[in-house]
Amino acid sequence: MCGIVGYVGTEDAKEILLQGLERLEYRGYDSAGIALTNEEGVHVFKEKGRIATLRDAVDHDTSATVGIGHTRWATHGVPSQLNAHPHQSTSARFTLVHNGVIENYKELKANYLNNKELTSDTDTEVIVQVIEHFVEQGHSTEQAFRETLSLLKGSYALALIDQENKETVFVGKNKSPLLIGVGEDVNVIASDAMAMLAVTDQFVEIMDQEIVIVKRDSVQIETLAGEKVERAPYTAELDMSDIEKGTYPHFMLKEIDEQPFVMRNIIQKYQNEDGGLRIDADIREAVKTSDRIYIIAAGTSYHAGLVGKQLVEKLANRPVEVHISSEFLYNMPLLSENPLFIFISQSGETADSRGVLVEVKKQGHKALTITNVPGSTLSREADFTLHTYAGPEIAVASTKAYTAQIAVFAILAVDVARSAGIELDFDPLQELGIVANAMEVLTAQKEEMEKVARDFLSVTRNAFFIGRAADYFVVVEGALKLKEISYIQAEGFAGGELKHGTIALIEEGTPVFALATQEHVNLSIRGNAQEVEARGAHVCTISMEGMNEPEDQIVLPRVHEHLTALASVIPMQLISYYAALHRECDVDKPRNLAKSVTVE
Ligand code: F6R
Repeated sequence: MCGIVGYVGTEDAKEILLQGLERLEYRGYDSAGIALTNEEGVHVFKEKGRIATLRDAVDHDTSATVGIGHTRWATHGVPSQLNAHPHQSTSARFTLVHNGVIENYKELKANYLNNKELTSDTDTEVIVQVIEHFVEQGHSTEQAFRETLSLLKGSYALALIDQENKETVFVGKNKSPLLIGVGEDVNVIASDAMAMLAVTDQFVEIMDQEIVIVKRDSVQIETLAGEKVERAPYTAELDMSDIEKGTYPHFMLKEIDEQPFVMRNIIQKYQNEDGGLRIDADIREAVKTSDRIYIIAAGTSYHAGLVGKQLVEKLANRPVEVHISSEFLYNMPLLSENPLFIFISQSGETADSRGVLVEVKKQGHKALTITNVPGSTLSREADFTLHTYAGPEIAVASTKAYTAQIAVFAILAVDVARSAGIELDFDPLQELGIVANAMEVLTAQKEEMEKVARDFLSVTRNAFFIGRAADYFVVVEGALKLKEISYIQAEGFAGGELKHGTIALIEEGTPVFALATQEHVNLSIRGNAQEVEARGAHVCTISMEGMNEPEDQIVLPRVHEHLTALASVIPMQLISYYAALHRECDVDKPRNLAKSVTVE
């Protein structure tokens, strides 16, 4: 979480930094700030709240061609103007922005700063003070920067400006994402290429434990140990229209609507010239030769993993376990002899998942990352990557990344099955085409979904989602979507489990969404729906063509039984969206959340 930007060029840095921060706002949005350097000195503007608040507070007459900026998701210290970045050293000579968490900041404060009183509660201020401390001891800025970074334990992507060396930004990285964008007479710094796409599409990846000295006409990368690094830029294949809302009121609605295109994109990318599946032979072999697959993920990606497990087990006949990444290392299962780890992550940056990846790599196991961001940390550090091709997902609540992850799992499972000689009556590319059409039908039913949200969710404080068999994995995602953006307390349950405790919460009018897309459990889930209805629940049934009853509120177009999640999640996404809208919630930026969770 948190995003940083920097600019060294010839244009007015202020507007470029503010726009960059607006594009990074998904990474955190509780406070923000920029620092600009010009011949008069360093000018710091920072505010609690959104970038729009910062924009209003900035002195628009201050112009500068060098600057840094930050958007914050609080870790150490409450969201406040004081804790907002940039932070300055006591003399104000040094100004710093930082994304990450410094684990040993208390130790550094005691060892190098004599426990002096600092102005903020952040770990970041300690870094900038320690840099100043080393400069006071006679080090050059570069030496002090290097020396300080080599003392830091934890994660950081940081950018420093020095009043006495105004044309340079000093940059360092460990574990938090960081890119340098390069252009003609301009170089920029960003946590994500999206932030600086208006300046350049040429970016250089910075690796852990590297520092970079960025000037208008040069980018010098070195390891912390001082070895020079040469690395060519890559072209960021992003379109400005991918990262703008266009005519949509919210990114979330745009991204829900994009799902049919994402399915078609995946079909195209994973289809080879003769109509077969395009999966790297090494990935296929890694799955085939493993004796057990461990899926590791968080949040919505974890929910996609639950569906992925079923696909791999049913289609490719391989055993799979799914684990929440933040718990895996503490509740580690007994591993099989030859495990394959599959990390699922939209952003590819989730720190909890990365923690597991680092550990399993240390133990010598193979890892595959399924991600929407191929150059991301989880992608780089795993042995293999499968790209979900969903395009940038900007709304904090994940929608198209979830369906894309499941689609890629279906393709992988069938590829492995085919190569193992398993005969299947299931063509994933053809079936995903049918899913895309079904998604189009469902996303066109916005008025109906809005009405369901109004009828069932306008006055409630809680809601339940129930499903059986494969539907169970989708209702947990439906509940997460609703709670994270509308703040209605929502839980997903296996239909049969409610009566073992949770049914006590059902009162007159409690909304219960029952998902019924699985033929073999259709009668039992409908029975569970009746049980809660008999106790006053307001039941909304989502079923599928061929299994529907006259009273069902939503009937999904028929899709293959292996892919029902891809259709049934769409109404849940849309109902959550409208419920949040009716409650006047900030749909794209729900409170307390951030898109890319880069702290453990
Ligand atoms: C919920 C949501 C989160 C993420 C989770 C993992 O809508 O977006 O639960 O799924 O933080 O993020 P990634 O997939 O980037 O690892």
